[in-house]
Amino acid sequence: MQAQSGERLEVLLSAKEVATRVEQLGRRITMDYQGRPLILIGILKGSFVFLADLCRAIDLPLAVDFLALSSYGAATRSSGIVRILKDLDHAVEGLHVLVVEDIVDTGLTLNYIFGHLRARGALSVKMCSLLDKPSRRQVAVPLHYKGFEIPDEFVVGYGLDVDERYRNLPDVCRLIRS
Ligand code: IMP
Repeated sequence: MQAQSGERLEVLLSAKEVATRVEQLGRRITMDYQGRPLILIGILKGSFVFLADLCRAIDLPLAVDFLALSSYGAATRSSGIVRILKDLDHAVEGLHVLVVEDIVDTGLTLNYIFGHLRARGALSVKMCSLLDKPSRRQVAVPLHYKGFEIPDEFVVGYGLDVDERYRNLPDVCRLIRS
């Protein structure tokens, strides 16, 4: 895909590498949640591609729901403010919740979601993120399943965006501004 003028894209994780890792995560989740009622909760919008692949790599009956939170907008740094824009459609009482995120950066988003979902009577709440940028963490979050650790660089593709662009790139790419 052509980058917008003034921007350059460099592949950090190829679609093939991502697919292999997602298969592995799916197998682990399948083993860990045998016999337990599972709901995957995708955090919109960034997780939609990862969630679509991950849920098909999990060989268990499961439900899917989504939460939408305020995002960074055009900026590439976290404001630290988390606000629910779309709440869950279904109750999580009596279910094991696995939150599916695209990337954990400061940890503020997942920290908020963790508290929010535990207060709603889920049997357990665990976190799964495709990407982790540990160097930028502001609050510790228990990340039970993680795809890749990446350095402190802004990435797009495979669902991740900047200002709504590049979500449909098959690879995870570094966004370099010139
Ligand atoms: P946190 O609350 O700082 O952990 O931010 C998590 C959210 O910030 C993610 O769900 C993304 O929407 C966004 N984000 C953080 N880093 C990046 C990035 O490198 N590219 C695109 N979005 C990012």
